[in-house]
Amino acid sequence: MAEREEGLKKIKEEVLNLSVSPLYAERVKNKYFPVIGEGSHSAAIMFVGEAPGENEAKTGRPFCGRAGKLLDSLLDSAGIKREDVYITNIVKDRPPKNRDPLPDEIAIYAPFLDRQIELIKPKVIATLGRFSMQYVMNRYGLEFELDSISKLHGQIFSADKFKVVPLYHPAAAIYNQQLLSTLKEDFKVLITLS
Ligand code: URA
Repeated sequence: MAEREEGLKKIKEEVLNLSVSPLYAERVKNKYFPVIGEGSHSAAIMFVGEAPGENEAKTGRPFCGRAGKLLDSLLDSAGIKREDVYITNIVKDRPPKNRDPLPDEIAIYAPFLDRQIELIKPKVIATLGRFSMQYVMNRYGLEFELDSISKLHGQIFSADKFKVVPLYHPAAAIYNQQLLSTLKEDFKVLITLS
C-alpha cells in the first residue's frame, strides 16, 4: 500500500519537473498544471484519455470540461461512481490548441502511464479515443487485434494482467447522438468486468 502511494507521489513529482518535455514551456508560459490523474488508487477500472484540454490544464484535473461532463453522465448511466475509478491520460500536459499528441510527446509521457497501471493494477483499462487505444493495445501485447476504433469499440480484449475495452472519446459524442448511444451501450460492458 505504502509502495503504491509512494510510487504515485514520485510520478507526480517527476511530471511536475519534466522540463525535457516540449510541452513543459507551454505549461509554464500559460501557468497551466500538468494533469497526472485522479480517482481511487485501488480502482478496478482505469480510464485513459488522450491529453488535457484547456479546462484540465487550468485546474490540473482530468476530464473536467465539456468532454468531462459527458464522461460523468456516461459513468452515471452505467451506475459507476467517478470516485471509484481512476482517470488519466497518456500525455499529461496540454498540447497547444488541443492538437493531437505527437509521437515524441507520447513517448515522453507514456512511461508514466505504464507506471500508474503497474501501481494501481486495474482489472479493466477503458481507453478513450484512438490514441490511447493504439498505445495501450500496442504496449500490452494486443497489437495483432488493432483495427479502427469503429470496429473495436465496446469489445473486450485480454492482456496479461487486465482487460482492455476501447471506447470512443466522449468529445466525439458532444454533437453526435448516435455516438452517444453507442458510448452508453459500451459503458455497460465495464460494469460486467469490474
Ligand atoms: N480530453 C482528454 O483526452 N483528456 C482530458 O483530460 C480532457 C479531455
